[in-house]
Amino acid sequence: EFKEDTVIVVFGASGDLAKKKTFPALFGLYREGFLSKSTKIIGYARTKLTNEELRERLKPFFKTPTEESKKLVDEFLKLCSYISGQYDAPDGYQELNSVIEKHDESRGVSESHRLFYLALPPSVFTTVAANLKKYAHPGKKGIARIIIEKPFGHDLESAQALQKELAPLWTEEELYRIDHYLGKEMVKNLVPFRFANNFLSACWNNNFIRSIQISFKEPFGTEGRGGYFDSIGIIRDVMQNHLFQVLTLLMMERPVSFDAEAVRDEKVHLLKSIKPFDKKNVLVGQYTKSEDGTKPGYLDDETVDPKSKCVTFACLTLEVDNERWQGVPVILRAGKALNDGKVEIRVQFRENSNGMFKDINRNELVIRVQPDEAMYMKMNTKVPGINTGIAVTELDLSYKSRYSHFYIPEAYESLIRDCLRGDHSNFVRDDELDISWALFTPLLNYLEGPDAPTPEPYAYGSRGPAGLREYLTKNGYVYQDRS
Ligand code: BG6
Repeated sequence: EFKEDTVIVVFGASGDLAKKKTFPALFGLYREGFLSKSTKIIGYARTKLTNEELRERLKPFFKTPTEESKKLVDEFLKLCSYISGQYDAPDGYQELNSVIEKHDESRGVSESHRLFYLALPPSVFTTVAANLKKYAHPGKKGIARIIIEKPFGHDLESAQALQKELAPLWTEEELYRIDHYLGKEMVKNLVPFRFANNFLSACWNNNFIRSIQISFKEPFGTEGRGGYFDSIGIIRDVMQNHLFQVLTLLMMERPVSFDAEAVRDEKVHLLKSIKPFDKKNVLVGQYTKSEDGTKPGYLDDETVDPKSKCVTFACLTLEVDNERWQGVPVILRAGKALNDGKVEIRVQFRENSNGMFKDINRNELVIRVQPDEAMYMKMNTKVPGINTGIAVTELDLSYKSRYSHFYIPEAYESLIRDCLRGDHSNFVRDDELDISWALFTPLLNYLEGPDAPTPEPYAYGSRGPAGLREYLTKNGYVYQDRS
């Protein structure tokens, strides 16, 4: 575990991710009492900024729910300073190292504990990781950890190349690959929820479960980042990483312990059991102008190739080929510019077959990751009153009402805290990456190759391509309109 005097260095400190996520998460940890007053936080980027200018930039993004917390902002900002330096030349790193050494000395600390957070585009990951190793790693005098964030490659080959470059520099023990979905409350809840409830374990298999659907919906398009998104597409952006992480935790076997390697071993086992995707069985879409014409279509973005077949909506169905899950379709669905912003898991149970009740709904467990964390189970119950009809109702756990006094951390807060504690459970291991890229690469090659299907258009703000309902029905999801 890192000591109180940890120095945290945020690379890309002048950029968007640092401003919107990394620093606010560090402030959140400070506000909640998880960072000590002797922590030193250094922002590093190429832009010339004074300490004060950095602080002013960061300030508007901090969450201060109470009067008390407002007072903490300046206190926290005093812990933050800034170094402007290049990513590819030694000077900045040498300066950084000497600042950290001086800080350690001034505090009479013999071990130097350093956390490097790379809020940077992948094109400079390796350069920065190499220079840090060379000029700012404490060596045997302390502990160093490095956090990197997706994209971890573009396909199997580039992901492996990146790993090959990083591996000689930073050990797997020192390296923390963030997938911020692993820090979300409901995703962290999957393991306790599944394995601490006996009745669930008993029906968590293909005897009881009909289909699984994991969906990601965003109400906004790629405005402003079309140029970036065009070479990425929704599958790389959220499916190969975020939705796959949710899938593995939802479907893996019980780990032998809570130990990070035990958990990640089970995730890897599960990933290895996924059958190669049937790439012809995907539904892809690209959004067009909203019906009222106020929101732009994907191709209206000037930075996007007007002939782009970039996929902004995708639905695919896969199967896990093991005893527990054989025959259960797992549908992944993700889209930008839709009618709603929501991430949820839907576990649909098999139909009630005892013959006593006709024409009733299946049970369905919904785990809403966001917004408004909730879990509810659709159940059939008697309509109250003298009549005897049956209706669907919900066993409902809504965090807002049940846990209104609890603080639900931001994903990044939770993950940075894990990293400070040296807990890798919620970070991505290299072999997870290999397997997921091996599964997705053929599909991506097809969708980006000469025989690529033309994505179905759907209007900005709609539910997605017109063929969605038919696709879901064909692949095993049963619409239950009776409720
Ligand atoms: C990021 C994607 O990884 O996740 C974005 O690059 C997406 O396109 C974001 O908007 C979604 O994260 P969240 O936490 O808002 O669901």
